[in-house]
Amino acid sequence: MIENQERFNKISGAVFTATGSFIPSLCVPNDAFLTSRFYNTDGTPVGKEPQKIIEKFKEITGIAERRYGTQNQKASDMGFLSAGAALSSSGMDKEKLDYIIVAHNFGDVAYGSNRTDMVPTLASRIKHRLQIHNPDCVAYDLPFGCPGWLEGIIQANYFIRSGDARHCLVIGTEMLSRVIDPHDRDSMLYSDGSGAAIISAPDTPGAGIIAHKTQTHALDDAMLLKMGQSYHPSSENDENIFLKMKGRKLYEFALTQVPLVIKAALDKANLHIRDINKVLIHQANEKMDVAILERLFKLYNEADIPGNLMPMTISKLGNNSVATIPILLDLIRNGKLKDQEIRSGDKVLFASVGAGMNINALVYQF
Ligand SMILES: CC(C)(COP(=O)(O)OP(=O)(O)OC[C@H]1O[C@@H](n2cnc3c(N)ncnc32)[C@H](O)[C@@H]1OP(=O)(O)O)[C@@H](O)C(=O)NCCC(=O)NCCS
Repeated sequence: MIENQERFNKISGAVFTATGSFIPSLCVPNDAFLTSRFYNTDGTPVGKEPQKIIEKFKEITGIAERRYGTQNQKASDMGFLSAGAALSSSGMDKEKLDYIIVAHNFGDVAYGSNRTDMVPTLASRIKHRLQIHNPDCVAYDLPFGCPGWLEGIIQANYFIRSGDARHCLVIGTEMLSRVIDPHDRDSMLYSDGSGAAIISAPDTPGAGIIAHKTQTHALDDAMLLKMGQSYHPSSENDENIFLKMKGRKLYEFALTQVPLVIKAALDKANLHIRDINKVLIHQANEKMDVAILERLFKLYNEADIPGNLMPMTISKLGNNSVATIPILLDLIRNGKLKDQEIRSGDKVLFASVGAGMNINALVYQF
């Protein structure tokens, strides 16, 4: 047992060899919700003018617009497109993939239906669309809340370090526009998209995953994000269910727990927060991410946070769950995010929080 552990520890962490993303073209600005009729949890109308609601929304989340997929698109279609982009950027033979891991939480949901469809898995659907013949390429789905894509990277790293796999394709794809309640103000947070990365065994030691940490808080916090009925007062007999959250409680949970998980990952890596060049964090609320970073620095008694440390996409892309971090990574790697770059040798922190409640963090050297 100890011998196995020692052998495992000697194998370097996996490396990102390519990334790809798909950002839907339909841009939905906050103004699009001016005609929405929003209700509180008890079914009473939100007694504010629509303009005031969206102004408050922008102020508390930082979101100005988001992207929705077209009516004929589903999560697996977007996943196929981001996977294709990653594969063509890698130039590798797709038959050499050992795993395809697809993180999502709602499967394919047809426009107007609100029904989840996950058989076959989205991973099998995407493998089929990619026309991969090799049956040794194992395809499976990973429902793990918003941290699903990062957890897929962690699982792929285990497969690679065990020596059982060389190349894994990890996709995050989510079409939240299909599962949100149009009468819930919090629905304005959500958006659609997909990101993918190919992660491989390193040819030379140096770059790669250094350490990671994951937690599931299911005792008191499991129900902070869950499916529930519409807030519309006439929805009592409606069979459809929608993504619901206890927003304020979730906000407080994230502020308390996420910095601790990040620090645990940094401790495992034997690194200090000052060693980190970029923080790529799940984008659920801009204000919340800034507060998480401040709390993290406080854990190290550090008052000064370097500028440009935490690239943000939320103001324009909203929260597209598992797709957020891989899209962010792909945009930076391709020079598509203003004033943001990752240089060779940079140490980058990835972190996410979401339904479960699951939290993960990963330290990577480029
Ligand atoms: C949902 C969330 C945006 C609400 O923001 P908040 O600052 O906690 O809001 P509060 O409930 O304290 O209310 C503050 C004010 O904002 C208003 N408000 C709350 N939610 C709102 C919304 N979605 N849109 C517009 N206004 C909203 C309230 O009415 C209140 O207004 P008032 O000051 O005029 O009385 C925020 O809690 C949040 O982002 N939570 C975490 C989200 C998250 O991580 N989700 C995970 C998904 S992966």
